Amino acid sequence: MSAGRQVQEPSWQGTPSASSPGRLSDSGTGLEPKPVHRSDPPPPFPPAAQPASPRAAPASSVARVKWLAAPSSEAWLLQAIAHADLVLIDHAHCERKAAGVALQLMFRYPSDGGLGAVLSPLAREELEHFELVLQLLQRRCVALRPLAAPPYGAGLARLVRRQEPERMLDSFLVAGLIEARSHERMALLAAHSPELELRQLYGELLASEARHFGLYWLLAEERFSRPVLVERLRQLSALEAELLATLWSEPRFHS
Ligand SMILES: [Fe+2]
Ligand SMILES: [Fe+2]
Repeated sequence: MSAGRQVQEPSWQGTPSASSPGRLSDSGTGLEPKPVHRSDPPPPFPPAAQPASPRAAPASSVARVKWLAAPSSEAWLLQAIAHADLVLIDHAHCERKAAGVALQLMFRYPSDGGLGAVLSPLAREELEHFELVLQLLQRRCVALRPLAAPPYGAGLARLVRRQEPERMLDSFLVAGLIEARSHERMALLAAHSPELELRQLYGELLASEARHFGLYWLLAEERFSRPVLVERLRQLSALEAELLATLWSEPRFHS
């Protein structure tokens, strides 16, 4: 079973599409500030995954999370299932970091009230997720401990351009891609984890993560033109998939 084989992800779409009508900007660089508006709802998101046996993971690829350039591999899923507690510890750290990313953006752009209105509740929700995972770790008598980080986070951070407003745009899209990957992998674990309590946890959380990447997309869309967003997302999502193309030695949520 190679790392390149891919597994089925529950069928759904959360697609920021370049062809969606009514939001395209036909002039300028796309990086000019845009008025903030909230007329469009986030993209549609999926129902929770149904539990199934790990053996049900097929070899064929069905990439349904269209923010993502490539689906997770079957090798990652099998590795994650075989080291469920390790992935759970890493999951706790991921939830804590997701809250930190939202807070960091609020602190970086303190005068952007629209940003704070979205990111403050998002940070709270991520901390609630952290507490949920922490409670499950405690029930399983697994201690939270530091883990070596896979190259994923640092690799994505290097892709964020340093000058504004590109830095803001990249920060939203990278945060959104991480949320999208989290959602995709939670859906896989909700469907294929052998243990009921793990299927329940991931099933409970995955809809939130889908909503989160929709929020980051909306934040970007409110401030940048659609063609600029779509092109930059295409670049970043290809690089995000590259970072996961080689299976890491130990499973992590984003390895
Ligand atoms: Fe979360
Ligand atoms: Fe999230």
